[in-house]
Amino acid sequence: MLRAYNLLLYFLIYNKDKAFGAAGETIVIEELLEGEEVSCLCFTDGRTVAPMPPAQDHKRLLEGDRGPNTGGMGAYCPAPQVSKDLLLKIKNAILQRTVDGMQQEGTPYTGVLYAGVMLTRDGPKVLEFNCRFGDPECQVILPLLKSDLYEVIQSTLDGLLCAAPPLWLENRAAITVVMASQGYPGDYAKGVEVAGIAEAQALGLEVFQAGTALKDGKVVTSGGRVLTVTAIRDTLVAALEGAKQGLAAIKFEGAVYRKDIGSRAIAFLQQPR
Ligand code: GLY
Repeated sequence: MLRAYNLLLYFLIYNKDKAFGAAGETIVIEELLEGEEVSCLCFTDGRTVAPMPPAQDHKRLLEGDRGPNTGGMGAYCPAPQVSKDLLLKIKNAILQRTVDGMQQEGTPYTGVLYAGVMLTRDGPKVLEFNCRFGDPECQVILPLLKSDLYEVIQSTLDGLLCAAPPLWLENRAAITVVMASQGYPGDYAKGVEVAGIAEAQALGLEVFQAGTALKDGKVVTSGGRVLTVTAIRDTLVAALEGAKQGLAAIKFEGAVYRKDIGSRAIAFLQQPR
């Protein structure tokens, strides 16, 4: 109860200048689900559910999961907290049931289904559904897709996922880190020059631009979450090192980013079992 009051107080303080716009006019109080939050996405053709490898997003702005919530400051995939057995349970109990339910209600769903799942002591529970890829989860899930994305989308549309399920790379891990503008998720400056993208790409990293624009032939910031740097390596440890090299290469004034994306998973993997 104390935590609920604290959250409400935090919201009221943060929202005093209408930081959330119209969305801040209603407060919804829900059951508090405690545990690790993971993103479990799937392709579905309305009947067959083909899960993607589980990912985890880092929503807080600052290292150590401190500071305000954001759209996501980084993600990694696969999330080792979700074992093969647990993913099967999430597939059957959440994703397949949802898709079947929509079919039965006469509103069949085709496309990408994203379940935000809390791994509670009582088992996996749904926090939210989205009908899209996640951002920044997409930047770590799709690089692990072995099949051709176009063909997967075609099978999804043609109702053929059962016959041609997507294949995923084994023994590869991806970490992506968001570089955000100073002030994000509040107000931030735009038009700040971004340097070093080509240097990061030369290190074998993927750089996905989101809040950028071209001005006089130069890349400048134009949004809160400016870009993400993705490293795909054999292990999460190696991927984190790779992403850090990209962060060192890319520079813009006031850049905010976390260097601990994936470290909870790395700690999980290092626990004795
Ligand atoms: N990363 C959270 C989302 O895409 O909803």
